[in-house]
Amino acid sequence: MASRFPAHWLDELRSRSDIVQIVSGYVGLKKSGRKYWGLCPFHGEKTASFSVDGEQQLYYCFGCKAGGDVIHFIMDIERCSFHEAVEILADRAHIPLPEMENDADWEQRQTRRERLLTANREAAKFYHEMLFRPEGAASLNYLRKRGLSDSVIRKFGLGAAPDQWSALTDHLVSAGYTTDELVSVGLTIVRPPKEPGGKQTAFDMFRNRAIFPIIDMHKNVIAFGGRSLGKELPKYINTADTPVYSKSRNIYAANLLKQQRHLDHVVLTEGYMDVVSLTQFGVEGACASLGTSLTEEQARLIRRFAPEVYLAYDGDSAGQKAILRGLEIFEKEGLPARVLVFPDGLDPDEFVRRDGAEAFSALQTLTPTAYRLRQLKTSFDLSKDEDKMNYVRKAALVLSGLDPVGQETYLKTLMVETGFSHDVLQQQVDEGRGKALGNAGLSKPAEARRSRAARKNEGSVSPVTAAQETLLGLLATGQIPKDMVEEKDFEDDELKSLYMALIGGASPASLPDTAPDDETRSRYTRILLSPAAESTDQMISMAGQCLGRIRKASCQKQYDALMQKMKTMDPKDPAIPGMLQEAQELRKKMDKPA
Ligand code: UTP
Ligand code: MN
Repeated sequence: MASRFPAHWLDELRSRSDIVQIVSGYVGLKKSGRKYWGLCPFHGEKTASFSVDGEQQLYYCFGCKAGGDVIHFIMDIERCSFHEAVEILADRAHIPLPEMENDADWEQRQTRRERLLTANREAAKFYHEMLFRPEGAASLNYLRKRGLSDSVIRKFGLGAAPDQWSALTDHLVSAGYTTDELVSVGLTIVRPPKEPGGKQTAFDMFRNRAIFPIIDMHKNVIAFGGRSLGKELPKYINTADTPVYSKSRNIYAANLLKQQRHLDHVVLTEGYMDVVSLTQFGVEGACASLGTSLTEEQARLIRRFAPEVYLAYDGDSAGQKAILRGLEIFEKEGLPARVLVFPDGLDPDEFVRRDGAEAFSALQTLTPTAYRLRQLKTSFDLSKDEDKMNYVRKAALVLSGLDPVGQETYLKTLMVETGFSHDVLQQQVDEGRGKALGNAGLSKPAEARRSRAARKNEGSVSPVTAAQETLLGLLATGQIPKDMVEEKDFEDDELKSLYMALIGGASPASLPDTAPDDETRSRYTRILLSPAAESTDQMISMAGQCLGRIRKASCQKQYDALMQKMKTMDPKDPAIPGMLQEAQELRKKMDKPA
């Protein structure tokens, strides 16, 4: 995270803001082992998976994977900006705010990421200003025709891309951005020259469209959606993934969600227009996934804003499939979800426009089970015995994932619908519990699902990566000799950069803030937590084991590559004996006991 506070001053602030003490002001903590534990304030839970590491001055939730340093904790819990969190902590620790680093210097150090984000911000400003100029009249007309008020247009920073080839590109190039930067954030497209030696042409990605800027919870403009002003297709053009935007890790209107404190629930819709019009009519907590089906990362993000989520999707068949899938994901991520049912085939935008916010909050909500049963029922004709039996069999599978109290309510409904006795239905449910379950879209027993998720999580980190991560955690304690480890012991860029920072003397607590996004910050935090070791000796021996595994794997890789290469060579090639010798040496290293 970028800030203009000097790094050494931030280190000082962190060291005078004990994270255990500060978190204790918000969360009841109990010490167990080397860490403090409590109920995570960022997601609903009954057993403590939220940990605070006093040694490394980091917090991390093993449930929702929220994590970071003390500044981030304040940002998350107070829903405030980095700057505000720093002020809160400085005030608390009675440290005066420092001189901000001067701008020329700042400009120099501005990383590519920051330049790309400012380019996006400039673009959003340009589009928004255009909306109220003749070039944007068509877009403004369109938005007004869709019933949007000026105040909601401002709230979302909506804009207009003029009906010109390169209005935005020209504007940003003259403001000092390179075409290359504009292409990489997806604002500009370049065409190669028509004839050799000719000039390439650069033009705008969004032309003659109403613009929806996508802004993250830290108020960065990260991407755009552009709606056509009539029937032209595609209806929406969206920024593809860029160095500053991943559509699967963001949601539309995260910036506004963050400002709404104490939401009872988030209202998750499918589209930009739904969010804007729900907000205009006074429905709180509206957001949307971004033109893809919901992802786990998005579910985790949503969980930070409210303890529950309502799915407000279209009633069409694509929408219903998306609901079933969404319910699975929220269940897996532990966020309670409900489904809103819209009458007359309306989507959220149309409904709130017709009936208003009050009617919206009075809408029927279905629990995941009720929704699944209702969906299931639509494919059967319950006046036929055959269908009735098949319905009960499938419904039993849905219910088998619930606890007995949960089952009871739905069993009663099933009794009424089908006329089967309670005993028979109960038996069918119990049988379903034992079965291998593969029915697409149906609930599977919660335990099975959870352990599958857990396995997947563990499996996603290879043993070598795990060893590298553990090694960094050990290095962060400052208890193992720095020269034990080398840069080439780390493969991926994220691990390499953590290594370089630690070797350079950065404090572990300052590192999560260097991550480019929430997922990475979570990973950094997890890696930097104090390892479970009793003594320095034990840490050094753990480090030795990790290194053994890493270096053997690297020998193996070189060995495999060498053998592969030799296979393709002429057996009489004079280089072969040397290569064989090298291979033998690698073998020896691989076979040496750790
Ligand atoms: P909808 O077609 O339901 O859009 O697509 P909408 O928001 O109701 O749009 P209006 O009311 O017709 O203006 C839902 C979402 O799917 C994505 C957009 O994110 C849209 O908001 N989408 C849809 C695209 O990305 N491209 C498209 O061509 C269509
Ligand atoms: Mn719509």
